[in-house]
Amino acid sequence: MNPPADGLDALETLDCDTAALRALEAVHLADILHSAETGRRWPLDEAAIAAFAIPDGTGGVNPGDRRALYHLIKALRPRSVLEIGTHIGASTLHIAAALRDGDGTSGLTTVDIRDVNHAQDRPWLRHGCRHSPADMLDRLGLGGLVTFVAGDSLDYMASCVGGADGFDVVFLDGDHSAAAVYREIPAALRILRPGGVIVLHDYFPELKPLWSNGFVLEGPYLATERLRREGAGLVALPLGALPWPTKLGSCVTSLALLLRA
Ligand SMILES: C[S@@+](CC[C@H](N)C(=O)[O-])C[C@H]1O[C@@H](n2cnc3c(N)ncnc32)[C@H](O)[C@@H]1O
Repeated sequence: MNPPADGLDALETLDCDTAALRALEAVHLADILHSAETGRRWPLDEAAIAAFAIPDGTGGVNPGDRRALYHLIKALRPRSVLEIGTHIGASTLHIAAALRDGDGTSGLTTVDIRDVNHAQDRPWLRHGCRHSPADMLDRLGLGGLVTFVAGDSLDYMASCVGGADGFDVVFLDGDHSAAAVYREIPAALRILRPGGVIVLHDYFPELKPLWSNGFVLEGPYLATERLRREGAGLVALPLGALPWPTKLGSCVTSLALLLRA
């Protein structure tokens, strides 16, 4: 029996133009994850961010994945990054920290369907954080690099089509249902600059558990596989085992890059 696809089968086939994607052969994961230069910078930025004690296990990406995102951004040197799914800002802070030493024109736009910085609701408190994402960025001197958008991912990406700027990296960590990711990937491709990269979180290759808890989130894999079955020339490159711990005593991450096959 096929796994449930949470509405994926009901969706019409979407155009998926992968021309802008960076080619698989142009990406060398070992160089990215073992960069000595980034390894020297990491302890400084990690120490500054650690002062906020962003918790693990309350919906933000785990500390090992935060470090992997930092390495990815340092290596890819994007001018412009789009993040879908801000939540407590765990990934946001690490992406922004990695952008700090750019040429001054780099920026991150982070989108969440909720207002993650809502001054009255203070949603971050419910997730064990002492500070809002915007507050943490300001305290690190990174506030000027980041634009927050409260809205739906597809609406926001549609609003960017035809704009002067695109994004070099799009990180998809919002609604993880297969139907949502199936729509988000083509939408992200439409606003990707040439040589750009899409980063998926919660990508479980062949729907196999990555950790001892047996957990599998199906959406990102099922969405990617449907696009591939329909002829999209893309391939998912899981980051696999990282050179540092991630969760449940392992080094394995659910991060994956979407690249041109
Ligand atoms: C797993 S959390 C993101 C974690 C975040 N990257 C971090 O490290 O703190 C997923 C977030 O996506 C948001 N989200 C869900 N559906 C969305 C949509 N359609 N558009 C934008 N954001 C969405 C949720 O509100 C939630 O905050």
